[in-house]
Amino acid sequence: MLRFETAGESHGECLVATLTGLPAGIPISVEAVNRELWRRQQGYGRGGRMKIETDRAEIVSGVRHSHTIGSPVAILIRNKDWQNWTDALPVEDVDGAEDKRKPVTRPRPGHADLAGSLKYDFHDARYILERASARETTARVAAGAMAKALLREFSIEVLSHVIAVGPARLERAATWDELVALSRRDEILLSCVDAETESRMKEVVDQAYRTGDTVGGVFEVVAHGVPVGLGSHIAWDTRLDGRLAQAIVSIQAVKGVEVGFAAEGSATFGSKVQDTIHYNREQRQFTRGANRAGGLEGGITNGQDVLVRGFLKPISTLRRPLESADLATKEPALAAYERSDVAVVPAAGVIGEAMVALVLAQAFLEKFGGDSLRETKRNFEGYVKQVSEY
Ligand SMILES: Cc1cc2nc3c(=O)[nH]c(=O)nc-3n(C[C@H](O)[C@H](O)[C@H](O)COP(=O)(O)O)c2cc1C
Repeated sequence: MLRFETAGESHGECLVATLTGLPAGIPISVEAVNRELWRRQQGYGRGGRMKIETDRAEIVSGVRHSHTIGSPVAILIRNKDWQNWTDALPVEDVDGAEDKRKPVTRPRPGHADLAGSLKYDFHDARYILERASARETTARVAAGAMAKALLREFSIEVLSHVIAVGPARLERAATWDELVALSRRDEILLSCVDAETESRMKEVVDQAYRTGDTVGGVFEVVAHGVPVGLGSHIAWDTRLDGRLAQAIVSIQAVKGVEVGFAAEGSATFGSKVQDTIHYNREQRQFTRGANRAGGLEGGITNGQDVLVRGFLKPISTLRRPLESADLATKEPALAAYERSDVAVVPAAGVIGEAMVALVLAQAFLEKFGGDSLRETKRNFEGYVKQVSEY
């Protein structure tokens, strides 16, 4: 079983990801992990913090001589901002520490501040927002880079792009080659494959900046080269569409998920939605008329690209704060404002890639197993042969 966990707080010492269950022998490049971390930090509409942090992964276990060794992989990413928070968030209480706290008592509507404070019995939302913050996803992206390294050995790639920022929307499908080109860019604006749409998206973000507001959007994650047969129809928790949906909605501010063309499909007739089945005798394989199902039928991958979309609400920290009530005095108060992002759709897409890669890697190892990459490859190749002889 491949499993992963993250630890760390937004302004704490560091973020940590651990990943257990990767076979030995997967080639790992720290630079490739750092590239993913960099991509997560980009995008037009990010707050000032991204300018002070350039995330770097320190792999402290599980990888030696550029290959996994089968033991748990632990990755550490230091928070450069920690130096400004050592007094406010000390591990051990010392004399005078109380005065150096940076309390947040005016909970932000839409953030975890109020629900978390009531649940954990804090009269200051600081510890809640420290962990609820999407800074945590830095660790997910690092773990996701490991999952991507496994999948790449089997020619499976996972990428993303932005479909909408507020009302500005891409009205056509993106090709795989466009996504590859997008992922190689050294400057990331809004990760849209169409330049004209991207400039309309930028105008929407500019409007949010001007008015002290925030804006959400939609990203799409595409997994290319996925074999038929990952996940299973046999039980509610083995259906891969459900597992992917959970992974995507677990991303901070993602409130909806779509597998394939779900929303469009729900508004029309079956004859227009299902992907027709054909057989190519020369290539001795089944083909499909389209990919509206997003590569999943019955919770099983069907060999087409896996398409999953995440719907992001607008960020809840507004420069023009919303009405709230003070946790201490219970009096009406404007919500707290701390340096914040205005739009994060491209970054959420990169996090979505990591989550999809992790879920696919889990399902892949459930099916093919193996303690070493050589063993996993042998199992995989046997299955591919079996399918080709069907
Ligand atoms: C990449 C990314 C960056 C984010 N940055 C911020 C931010 O700067 N300020 C903010 O209030 N929320 C931000 N969020 C969203 C909050 O973390 C999220 O709304 C909060 O944890 C409450 O969770 P929920 O919206 O999923 O219910 C960000 C989300 C993502 C995916």
